[in-house]
Amino acid sequence: MDGLRIAVSKGRILEQTLPLLASIGIAPVGEVGRRLIVDTSVPGVQIIIIRATDVPTYVAYGAADAGIAGKDVLMEHGGEGLYEPLDLGIARCRLMVAGRAGVQLPGGRLRVATKYVNVAQRYYAERGVQVEPIKLYGSMELAPLVGLADCIVDLVDTGSTLRANGLEPLALIADISSRLVVNRASMKLKQTALQRLIRELEAVTRQVADAPA
Ligand code: ATP
Ligand code: PRP
Repeated sequence: MDGLRIAVSKGRILEQTLPLLASIGIAPVGEVGRRLIVDTSVPGVQIIIIRATDVPTYVAYGAADAGIAGKDVLMEHGGEGLYEPLDLGIARCRLMVAGRAGVQLPGGRLRVATKYVNVAQRYYAERGVQVEPIKLYGSMELAPLVGLADCIVDLVDTGSTLRANGLEPLALIADISSRLVVNRASMKLKQTALQRLIRELEAVTRQVADAPA
């Protein structure tokens, strides 16, 4: 697997990706710590560690040959310049519309607070609903509580963040999990190495999915 750079986002995706990579023989050399570029046990294979929303950008420009990113981030990015050959089944959650529990949404133009402005715009346009998207970078759950927005589009896993803030889920936009993405040019130039990476990750992902709970 010579000469591959794989982009992974720090946080929960990195935590769930390292065991998958380790099981196909790709392990970081030494402590990851605060390093942004890490050599691995496979000569020539590097992992770069970046913010979740930056993974599609690094891969689309070819600064990384492959990457691991949430479907939410890929939907928002649009996926131009990327192949998405594999669902890794990790970091599962749902992208949802949520609002204040028991409070009806207003009839006119909806103010929607979200990190996912493109996804929200597409979702409401398909339903003929006029929206004013309000771009936020985190803690979306606060916006309806302080009158910044009527509702939010955000990730929900256990639902405890919604409940803790008196919000309720209103609609499912998409089921989310992390995907392997590959740069289109790398797919041609480094076909052998990338096909092997895809094949091996697919095999371990299937093993994890088939394992008894
Ligand atoms: P950034 O650093 O760009 O702000 P972030 O803080 O949102 O990203 P994480 O919270 O680690 O980074 O989320 C990374 C990805 O993990 C998301 O894009 C999504 O696919 C998935 N994810 C986020 N929240 C959850 C959750 N509660 N449960 C499961 N998966 C989640
Ligand atoms: C994510 C997401 C929600 C929460 C949902 O936040 O943005 O706020 O998880 O999970 P739950 O349904 O299990 O409560 P995260 O924990 O990543 O915090 P951050 O967005 O502030 O990084």
